[in-house]
Amino acid sequence: MMKITVFGAGYVGLVSAVCLAKIGHAVHCVDVNESRITALIAGECPIYEAQLPELLTEQQQLQKLTFDTHWLSDADIYLIAVGTPGLDDGNPDLSQVFALAEHIAEKAEQDCVVIIKSTVPTGTGDRVEKRMIQRLQQLDKALQIAVVSNPEFLREGRAVADFLQADRIIAGGTPTALETVKQMYQPLIDKGTPFLMMDRCSAELSKYAANAMLACKISFINQISQLAEHTGADIESVRQAIGSDSRIGGQFLQAGVGYGGSCFPKDVRALAKSAQQYGLDTSLLESIEAVNTIQKNWIVKKLLQHYSGKLYGLTIALWGLAFKPETDDLREASSLVIMNALLEAGATLRVYDPVAMPAAKKLFSLAQAIVWCDNAQEVFCDELAALAIVTEWSEFKQFPLSILREGLSQNAIVIDGRNCFDLSAVQAIGLPVYYSVGRPLIMEQAANVS
Ligand code: UGA
Repeated sequence: MMKITVFGAGYVGLVSAVCLAKIGHAVHCVDVNESRITALIAGECPIYEAQLPELLTEQQQLQKLTFDTHWLSDADIYLIAVGTPGLDDGNPDLSQVFALAEHIAEKAEQDCVVIIKSTVPTGTGDRVEKRMIQRLQQLDKALQIAVVSNPEFLREGRAVADFLQADRIIAGGTPTALETVKQMYQPLIDKGTPFLMMDRCSAELSKYAANAMLACKISFINQISQLAEHTGADIESVRQAIGSDSRIGGQFLQAGVGYGGSCFPKDVRALAKSAQQYGLDTSLLESIEAVNTIQKNWIVKKLLQHYSGKLYGLTIALWGLAFKPETDDLREASSLVIMNALLEAGATLRVYDPVAMPAAKKLFSLAQAIVWCDNAQEVFCDELAALAIVTEWSEFKQFPLSILREGLSQNAIVIDGRNCFDLSAVQAIGLPVYYSVGRPLIMEQAANVS
């Protein structure tokens, strides 16, 4: 059992703290946000994340996990999981990481390892280590503090499973420090998780490269989907065809209304930014984002085309607001772009999301033209012009098409931004007009190819 202090009780910090306790360590999780810590001490899980509330309670009851706004200085490992939000210029804000590093150097009482789990540009670990050494020297402290980069690969909604059954763990640093980190993960390594050791810069770059690669796959399939739409090809068949090549792989090739969330947009921009600082070409990275911006507007574009540019006074329903299913997170969600554009065009919105409604109501508290609905069916009304599907929650994918058909007013169209329904089922039920991403247009009279 190791003593670990985790800094940051956000998505990454909290999941790491709970999971590290689960695999046998004594974990002290620290955050400056008092209300969050008070809630956690009371056993309340402040984020919507599968398995997390149960594990949190379990580990608190076993007294392996504690929360505080103050930290103890006797840990074997300090794990930094504070936010690195994107600044306006595209660079991440590293101020919290640097402040903590100095603080650890001031307070640590014994040799220790500092793990940087926050996503930071390549070379940040070197800068952090330099600052810590300087601070130790100023204070005349003869301690050894080693800095290790150990990026996270946790998906929101599946973060606990991604931590406990990871594809791989990546750690970069000196051989001695890496041995300590390996010991921390030993219970997972014993179960077969590969532990990849490397130098610190490579570990830092791997995190950005992984997210940029995944974002690239999404933008790639979205760009191909535009061609599919214009030629009559079906992007789902194309996805299957290319995804079954083991060199390509089928995951993250789902065409849709673009990627959102707190990671891909920020990380693709930050990677481009850091390459620009070396005077390097970043055209591919910039294109990933440019394609994504186009794709986020796909639903609005279809509406404008269908209604000849006139959306003023139309009632449009939205199913799904979160940037993906199983989360209430709205950061960089396509729904925000769509809602803002439609409101600006003078449409009235009827919206529903299984969990992201409270967050959305806060963001759009001043908007008059939004009707917040309590369930998926409530979005239907006599004057409905269109139903747009923005997030592929399973309750939408499993929504009976017969009820959808009945709920739609006579000329209401469906614009499915996540390809939730099978085309032959849509055709069989006879929706008036059904647009989906990269697939043929379906119309009630006959199966027409756009
Ligand atoms: C992403 C990565 O998947 C994690 O490995 C990484 O650790 C995390 O960022 C991070 O850097 O912390 P996350 O942002 O939670 O995780 O969400 P994803 O499941 O990757 O989805 C991101 C976006 O891509 C969503 O908007 C989703 O709808 C979209 N997406 C995903 C597609 O449009 N098509 C796909 O085929 C897959």
